[in-house]
Amino acid sequence: MEPLYTLRGVTKLFQRGPTTVRALDGIDLEIQPGQFVALEGPSGSGKTTLLQLLGALDRPTAGDVWFEGADLVGLPDHELAELRLRSFGFVFQQFNLIPTLTAVENVEVKLIPSGGDRARALQLLDEVGLAERADHLPAHLSGGEQQRVAIARALSVEPRVVLADEPTGNLDSATGGEIIDLLSKLADEHGSTVIVATHDSELAARAPQRLAMRDGRLVGNPAPAPA
Ligand SMILES: Nc1ncnc2c1ncn2[C@@H]1O[C@H](COP(=O)(O)OP(=O)(O)OP(=O)(O)O)[C@@H](O)[C@H]1O
Ligand SMILES: [Mg+2]
Repeated sequence: MEPLYTLRGVTKLFQRGPTTVRALDGIDLEIQPGQFVALEGPSGSGKTTLLQLLGALDRPTAGDVWFEGADLVGLPDHELAELRLRSFGFVFQQFNLIPTLTAVENVEVKLIPSGGDRARALQLLDEVGLAERADHLPAHLSGGEQQRVAIARALSVEPRVVLADEPTGNLDSATGGEIIDLLSKLADEHGSTVIVATHDSELAARAPQRLAMRDGRLVGNPAPAPA
């Protein structure tokens, strides 16, 4: 089976005043389709930076990020934007719902480029257990409920990959566990690969695949031999 992602020598440098920060330092990695991967590591180890490259939100300083046979490094910006819209679903720590739209409208808004679809948005809310809350504004939903809406929104386009950056960071641990389990179940049903960044090793332990980062490198995961 062809890997979904193949990373070779991926390095990302940031300039902070006079110092160069090596956020990613020569990452070699393959991710297979259908996997549920936890990306764990302490603050500053490079988790968000790696997720941003996997989600075509940024480009590496050096190295290659292959996604389904295309090297993202060589794609023009408009093709990266297209990938972000159609192939990737994003879930963030802060939920990032639009405060003036109801739950169902927050999901529907993601479907606008493909014509919008209220019925489908409602069905997705039902899948995350929020059918009854469809007409509530985010301010009237709990953190866990808001994150469920964000998951419904991420899945609405049937993305190839869901990229979740500390999705439980603003939730208590019981709710956090429920969110991870829901993400895992739904991604399986929708055929999406999931990559979750977390510094919580208890949550990471729920994932069948774990990748550990330290100082911009993967640790304890020998890189597969180059093809
Ligand atoms: N835009 C940026 N400009 C400068 N430095 C950055 C930038 N983004 C990230 N860094 C630095 O790169 C390193 C990796 O950061 P990153 O956000 O990827 O870590 P993280 O593992 O996600 O941490 P956390 O658990 O706190 O979210 C850190 O030293 C960070 O300060
Ligand atoms: Mg981060």
